[in-house]
Amino acid sequence: MTYVCNGVTNHFAAMIISILNQKGGVGKTTTAVNLAASWAHIFPDSRVLLIDMDGQANASAMFGVRGATPSIYDVLLDPVSRPMKSIIRTDALPHVDLAPAHRALAGLDNALLDVIGRELLLKEVIATVRGEYDAIIVDNGPSLGIASAMSLVAADIALVPMQPQPLALEGLQQVSQSIQMARQRLNPTLRRLVVLTMFDGRKSHATQIAAKLRLTLGDDVCQTTIPSSADLERGLLRGGAVVSYAPRSGGATAYLALAREIENKADSTVLKESVLAEGSPARVPDAQTEQRIIRQNKSSDREVRLPKIKTVIPRTDKVTTSSKGKKATNALVELSKGTSKQGERQ
Ligand SMILES: Nc1ncnc2c1ncn2[C@@H]1O[C@H](COP(=O)(O)OP(=O)(O)OP(=O)(O)O)[C@@H](O)[C@H]1O
Ligand SMILES: [Mg+2]
Repeated sequence: MTYVCNGVTNHFAAMIISILNQKGGVGKTTTAVNLAASWAHIFPDSRVLLIDMDGQANASAMFGVRGATPSIYDVLLDPVSRPMKSIIRTDALPHVDLAPAHRALAGLDNALLDVIGRELLLKEVIATVRGEYDAIIVDNGPSLGIASAMSLVAADIALVPMQPQPLALEGLQQVSQSIQMARQRLNPTLRRLVVLTMFDGRKSHATQIAAKLRLTLGDDVCQTTIPSSADLERGLLRGGAVVSYAPRSGGATAYLALAREIENKADSTVLKESVLAEGSPARVPDAQTEQRIIRQNKSSDREVRLPKIKTVIPRTDKVTTSSKGKKATNALVELSKGTSKQGERQ
């Protein structure tokens, strides 16, 4: 990646985007694969690496790679005899390389139990190849175990795909806590972004949740939303990325827009400086700048304050909303009240 500052062109190592949400089936893998392919599509000279950190190995399967050995698991366990470079597949998708997963990753927490500083392992192995890529995208499984912790420590951006459903908001609070912890302890410049997936703008609860999130989290919520799309749903069956097999579809357009939006956000001062902090000594920001980055991150880490939803929410779009003109903040509270009442009556 390149940017110009004070007339000087700076080249720096790949931006690392970690895609995570402990909730299953929200579109993490779909986002990881399609974001990687879209990035490579928009910037044809770029090189993108996708690291599959999920024992389900769904991203690897979308690249046509199954049961890979060696895999990222072997690298994390013994990076000296199994360097990162040795597992990378370069023939999977055009301009997108893959570091495949293996189901053994499910036992990673136990395997690394007595390894001191294990949260740093992924960051260290990525550092050995980072200079060769423009973007590195990490797909994570549906948990907040050691694999996700490593991803958060290694990343510049924690991208949280989220379906616009009331219960998903509580999940967002959980993942946000992990992001915050990673920032406080090991990665002060980590930035959170939320992207709404399987979004249907005709459903009132979806638009209300989107509005509330934007009010609460501001710029942390991507403007781009990913629509529910049959083309994306067929991703695993078709293999590869939607931008290849259905380039004019809504799904392809959305992921291309998301890649552009994230790249633009990377142009923001905070992120530039966070990447600079990883660079050569000449690029390391001074202590004052570093403090400013940390302060900016803290102020952008506004809590997701949401109503507690104790009742199971029935599948319905008929929600009780506040009267017209009330702010979106109140709309979500009303939404939860309305659905709770419905739930209680059942
Ligand atoms: N925008 C979308 N429109 C329609 N279907 C989608 C969309 N995004 C994902 N899907 C489908 O939803 C299912 C779950 O998606 P995906 O595997 O990406 O989720 P995940 O968060 O990675 O799941 P897991 O937590 O199990 O890893 C898949 O069948 C996928 O094809
Ligand atoms: Mg997945």
